[in-house]
Amino acid sequence: LKIFETSEQLDVYAAELFTKLINEKPNAVLGLATGSTPIGIYEKMVESYHQKKVSFKGVTTYNLDEYVGLTPDNDQSYAYYMNKHLFSRVDIPSGQAHLPNGMAEDPEAECKRYDAMLNERPADIQLLGLGHNGHIGFNEPDDKLTAGTHVVKLKEETREANARFFASIDEVPREAVTMGVGSILKANTILLVVRGSDKARIVKEALTGPITTQVPASLLQTHPRLIVLVDREAGRFLE
Ligand code: F6R
Repeated sequence: LKIFETSEQLDVYAAELFTKLINEKPNAVLGLATGSTPIGIYEKMVESYHQKKVSFKGVTTYNLDEYVGLTPDNDQSYAYYMNKHLFSRVDIPSGQAHLPNGMAEDPEAECKRYDAMLNERPADIQLLGLGHNGHIGFNEPDDKLTAGTHVVKLKEETREANARFFASIDEVPREAVTMGVGSILKANTILLVVRGSDKARIVKEALTGPITTQVPASLLQTHPRLIVLVDREAGRFLE
């Protein structure tokens, strides 16, 4: 666990974890996330690329999740987000950057395809943000969780939280494809990043509370190599 005075210090530290790994292992497999949490980290990775400190030519990436029904050119899709913040700004070959295909005609087959790729080459490091209700990826609190990649119905609270990015709540997708908690836990190292006072309670609960499917991030406590990076606000109950 590392608590940073500023969000920028956190970004620099996290980006360096990735660039060091890539320099040591040029064909590294990275598990990536979207949302507001990783934007500054991707920014620093792009800076390192411009400074010729790292190349993504041999890197393979797998994103956690994607909305069902949004094409990659829809500016709310996670494919669009990844292109905008990272992929189009570094030298990763497009065939090596993977997201679940939210437009797949057969979503079940798409989930199987995605898990088969992940099983073949598990992530060296999986980046995660944390939802206010303890979700990771789109694995929402529930009586039971699914291990593998699967289609989920989004909870109303999650749709409402994301509605700010859409013209109206009706346009927010109702389903998503997400890696399951089992797929996430297969990564060699997990990097959980949490920012802001509004997540101080849930990060404390996830890391020190009981392991329960009602707080999906609490399952991360079972992982042997979990790195948690928080800013001062999010870490105020952890010190
Ligand atoms: C994103 C993802 C989500 C977010 C979480 C936090 O790919 O899977 O679990 O990490 O909702 O979102 P932000 O970072 O926007 O607070």
